[in-house]
Amino acid sequence: MTYLSDRIQGLSESATLKMTKLGRELAAKGINVISLSIGEPDFNTPENVKEAAKKAIDNNFTHYTPVPGYPDLRKAIAKKLKLENNLDYDFSQIVVSTGAKQSLSNVILTLVNPGEEVIIPTPYWVSYSEMVLLAEGTSVFIDTDIEADFKITPAQLEAAITPKTKLFMFSSPCNPTGSVYSREELADLAKVFEKYPQVFILSDEIYEHINFKAEHVSIAEFDSIKDRVIIVNGFSKAFAMTGWRLGYIAANKEIAAANEKMQGQTTSGTCSIAQRAGIAAYEDGLDSVQMMKESFLRRRQLVYELLKEIPGVKTNLPDGAFYFFPEISSFFGKKDAQGNLINNSADLALYLLNEAHVATVGGDSFGNDNYIRISYAASDENLIEALKRIKVALAKLS
Ligand SMILES: Cc1ncc(COP(=O)(O)O)c(C=O)c1O
Repeated sequence: MTYLSDRIQGLSESATLKMTKLGRELAAKGINVISLSIGEPDFNTPENVKEAAKKAIDNNFTHYTPVPGYPDLRKAIAKKLKLENNLDYDFSQIVVSTGAKQSLSNVILTLVNPGEEVIIPTPYWVSYSEMVLLAEGTSVFIDTDIEADFKITPAQLEAAITPKTKLFMFSSPCNPTGSVYSREELADLAKVFEKYPQVFILSDEIYEHINFKAEHVSIAEFDSIKDRVIIVNGFSKAFAMTGWRLGYIAANKEIAAANEKMQGQTTSGTCSIAQRAGIAAYEDGLDSVQMMKESFLRRRQLVYELLKEIPGVKTNLPDGAFYFFPEISSFFGKKDAQGNLINNSADLALYLLNEAHVATVGGDSFGNDNYIRISYAASDENLIEALKRIKVALAKLS
């Protein structure tokens, strides 16, 4: 018997954090582990942002902040949405949070009643379904595969909508697949949503700036459904600020106020220093973002060429984010040198960690077991070495 709640017992541990932890444990034993499991840029926060944070401390921005964030940060976010996305939001529609992760959780908890359905295309970011579980909602998955570039069709969306559907949530560019929906594809999905006014759309745009395809398109750009779209975004990926914990939503006023209420009873306003740093991130423009994007573009090509050469691995060329999601199911049913059977993607990820000393993440935790996720937010040198090791280790399976 345990005294822990049913709620926490029913919750899965984050697979990405688990693989990263296992990798760190091996590294602590002196083993040269290459981590391709973590979802963060391998760059440092831009200098001007760090300077702004230091100044914030000296200027005593050290007190509680308004729950939805400092007004000047919210105004800077509204300005960004206008300039970069051509979207009109008043600053009262912006709620700043302790990272996009908290914003996602806030939105789900403020919209979803027990038993209501949340449609999630697979593969999806690990925490989506667990957040729905915490809200006592029901996740309804729409499966996609590499042939479909991991994107759903309007027909699939419509077939998944029921009278119980409350929310549809997705990320574009997508973690874990890197897929990006085009304007035309989003317009077609928006047409379906037009027919179902009870359905809200949670658009996770955290990888907005790591898009190699074209300009970023937000589904909120379709006026007919804008009022039902909640944009979630943040500073972690664009400005290499994962540790600062700074995210936000842009939504209709009622949803924004409800998010503020939720946050007011849980975490309050996020860190004052991080908020001042966030303002500086916007002030300096997108130079450092552009530099990061160019590096990711080069590494994407590097990993693509190397992955294509590995027998049994099927890959596509992702349009955004910094992940590959190759299909690896041809290795299921094979054995390692000790006779251990590879039954699924988690077994394969563990085998690659122990045999090749490369940390990846099994696709099962993203809702599709036939794949693994490889992050290319690592140096060129490490990527070349890691892919070499993976190739050798996979060839040993028989
Ligand atoms: C798709 C997606 N959404 C949200 C987040 C959370 O970002 P944040 O660091 O702002 O909480 C991540 C982080 O990995 C992500 O990949």
